[in-house]
Amino acid sequence: MIEIAPSILSADFAYLGEAIHAVEPETSWIHVDVMDGHFVPNLTIGPPVVASIRRHTKSFLDCHLMITDPWDYLSDFAKAGADSVSFHFEVGRTTELINMTRDLGMKVGMAVNPDAKFDDYAQFIAQVDMLLVMSVFPGFAGQSFIASVLEPLRRARQLIDSQGAQTLLQIDGGISLDTIGESSRAGAEIFVAGSAVFGNPDPAMAVRGLKAAALSALREHG
Ligand code: DX5
Ligand code: ZN
Repeated sequence: MIEIAPSILSADFAYLGEAIHAVEPETSWIHVDVMDGHFVPNLTIGPPVVASIRRHTKSFLDCHLMITDPWDYLSDFAKAGADSVSFHFEVGRTTELINMTRDLGMKVGMAVNPDAKFDDYAQFIAQVDMLLVMSVFPGFAGQSFIASVLEPLRRARQLIDSQGAQTLLQIDGGISLDTIGESSRAGAEIFVAGSAVFGNPDPAMAVRGLKAAALSALREHG
């Protein structure tokens, strides 16, 4: 499976419906970056916006919670129509968050920052539906890809395959035509892209191009 998950953080917030419809012909994923001004030094959007976009799309709403207290908001995201939430490993209470998210009927994602130690979070990988490896420090779109995360990405791929786990492997931050190939070869299968999609005058074409680049890197790889 290879999918591009366009991040609406890089879209014009006054035209979110249009932005989502523009990419729908090319992908069924939409990545929603939720920031609280505490876990990261930026503020974005929350459950009311998820509820609004839910009414306009059937796409899979993949909500990335860059927030300190996800346990206080999970039910709001479920009610708003989120399909998955990815909380950060760094906030702690991981087992509790996995159970709460699943009990609310959403897919469970666990996000890890670029400096997270693989051995610290490895025990949870097979328990979640998706591991989100951050390839920038979260907070802002348009940052440069941190290539050192390719190593934990490869280790995660190996662990998932060797355990026969179903966990999806997502990468987020600085994904472009220049970086998607190496991420794909390292084992990522869901690629979040903000500026590379919505910074392009033709977002659908940008998604198509990224997907083609991810696939062709795999083919060259053999
Ligand atoms: C960063 C967010 C990312 C970001 C991606 O904190 O989690 O999803 O929007 O944007 P680009 O693709 O521009 O790095
Ligand atoms: Zn994100």
